[in-house]
Amino acid sequence: MKAITSLTALVLGASLAATALAQDTTTQTPPPAEAGAGAAAAVEPAATPGAAAGKTDAPVEMTEGQTTLPNGMDITPVTQENGRWYNAEGIPTFKIDGKVVDFATFNGFRRYHAECHVCHGPDGEGSTYAPALKNSVLRMDYYQFQEVVASGRQGTNSVMPAFGTNKNVWCYVDDIYVYLLAHGTGEIGRGRPAERGEKTDEYKAQEESCMSM
Ligand code: HEC
Repeated sequence: MKAITSLTALVLGASLAATALAQDTTTQTPPPAEAGAGAAAAVEPAATPGAAAGKTDAPVEMTEGQTTLPNGMDITPVTQENGRWYNAEGIPTFKIDGKVVDFATFNGFRRYHAECHVCHGPDGEGSTYAPALKNSVLRMDYYQFQEVVASGRQGTNSVMPAFGTNKNVWCYVDDIYVYLLAHGTGEIGRGRPAERGEKTDEYKAQEESCMSM
């Protein structure tokens, strides 16, 4: 739990810094989305030219076949466990065989559109209210993503709710994450993936145990 604690401090620290910044700038109020850059804002002072490009949800250029994200994560699927794919470090990732999207990624599409799209826009493309998560996941790491989803975040004029106790979100947080990765890297387009892999017995068992906890 130590990692989570320091992450919480980091996230809190970043939003406090953003708040302080917003209060100091009397002449120029940063747009809400800018403050939403959170950790990025703490690293890069908002006054620096090009700070907007450092936003967590700013567009990211990915070339075809690129397997390393701007955050350093290698998205190559290496192992499968409980019906979900993981990279060499055990971080959830997606797997696409031809046009067939693995079940967890497909399910992430559904869960995202049930719980997140009202604020973050269809297909993780963002809205005037909340950032484009298809880009956020290429910059934030998996643990930062989890932390925000679990604990929520207070924006300048907006709120990211905490979902840590909502099983309909929390039991599928990895699916939502890998779906956003798959779309953010351009490996799947907008809309519902046409073809999906089997829902395995291991996936079902894991799902049942999570939902009954
Ligand atoms: C009620 C609206 C709302 C809903 C629903 C919502 N979010 Fe958010 N979310 C926000 C807002 C607003 C922010 C930006 C907060 C800030 O300014 O720091 C945000 C920020 C985030 C971030 C940080 C992004 C970044 O670039 O820093 C992540 C990750 C995130 N949300 C994930 C999710 C996921 C996953 C779901 C669905 C399970 C979800 N959100 C549902 C409003 C929402």
